Amino acid sequence: MILLAFIVGLNVITSCVSHKAKYKGSWERLSAEVDPYYTVFLIGDAGYSSVDGDNEVFDHLEKALNNQNKNSAIIWLGDNIYPVGLAPSTSIYSSQGRYRLLAQLNTMRDYVGQKYFVPGNHDWYTYGRVGLRRQELLIDSFLHHTPNPNDQDDYFLPSKGCGDPQIVDLKEDIALLLMDSHWFLEEKARIGDQSVCDVKTTEDYLQKIAEEVDRNKDKALIIASHHPPFTYAHHGGKFPLKDDLFPITQKVDWLYIPIPFAGVLFNRIRLRMSEQDVYHPMYKQYRSKLVEVLESKGRSIVASGHEHTLQLIENHNQYFIVSGAGTKNNKVGMGKGSRFGIGEQGYVKVVFLDSKVAKIQFIVPGLYEEHDNVAYEKLVTLE
Ligand SMILES: [Fe+2]
Repeated sequence: MILLAFIVGLNVITSCVSHKAKYKGSWERLSAEVDPYYTVFLIGDAGYSSVDGDNEVFDHLEKALNNQNKNSAIIWLGDNIYPVGLAPSTSIYSSQGRYRLLAQLNTMRDYVGQKYFVPGNHDWYTYGRVGLRRQELLIDSFLHHTPNPNDQDDYFLPSKGCGDPQIVDLKEDIALLLMDSHWFLEEKARIGDQSVCDVKTTEDYLQKIAEEVDRNKDKALIIASHHPPFTYAHHGGKFPLKDDLFPITQKVDWLYIPIPFAGVLFNRIRLRMSEQDVYHPMYKQYRSKLVEVLESKGRSIVASGHEHTLQLIENHNQYFIVSGAGTKNNKVGMGKGSRFGIGEQGYVKVVFLDSKVAKIQFIVPGLYEEHDNVAYEKLVTLE
């Protein structure tokens, strides 16, 4: 009984974790832009489409993309194929993986903007760099047949399973830094032949980020990688009560065996043992260096997936967007710097009014019909 009271107390203190929308303060709808300067769509963890073919988020996104001109881009923020990336044709996962990737690619059949994918941890699993390369080739071969007024060459970056952070100029005054955060966090991803890569160590990786941020210090900057530096859901230590009381349900949905003490212990230890969670030493190193470099520049947008939620967090003078709810959704809480969080499927749209001012919109198809499906929006300044 005492233990139960402790667990409930711990959950109340550390979190109010649910699927519901949470807001820091009030907000109101902003006026619509008729002719935006540039628009960026952010969607992550989109590789879990069910085979029945219905996906409300993708349908909504496709319509939004087809209303854009060439001054726009979409970034798919990793975990593009669950559970093991693109498997070889001999695997039972092969056709499912192709289907899940094609569901995303098909939203861009007629889209005229720029199109980018970054890898996530699931894209690396089981088949490593070979699986990643297989995914890259399928993405390239599909997208080379879509409209291309911006003369785009590469769609999957960093390419070839290299850790090299890559800068892309979306416009002359808006830069995009695409990174493979799993390569940095997971030692296994850094093993093997990297002779074609510029960056070969984690030190090189951090150095390259610092150089690129400095080189682009006068532009608006969006950093896109799979793992969020800040998050207040599962990977960030915000657990729903169920996960502490019935920890096995994290692996098997229906297996409600109550082992509360082990659950509390397992969840807190896991946060420090897994490279996929924010308290792991590699994760903390990644976050602290990235934040240090960005703070020297001014305000930027850091976009990530991984956590199956939509969140806006303002910390260290940066805007951290979590958009990992393309095909999955988890419960979410609030923490330091939280402005908004929701555990529903959706995506994010960043509408630049000029190169320094942008409107960040969190879009949940199927909900908030009275607000054009906008669950939250905020005007931000990037300088
Ligand atoms: Fe992930």
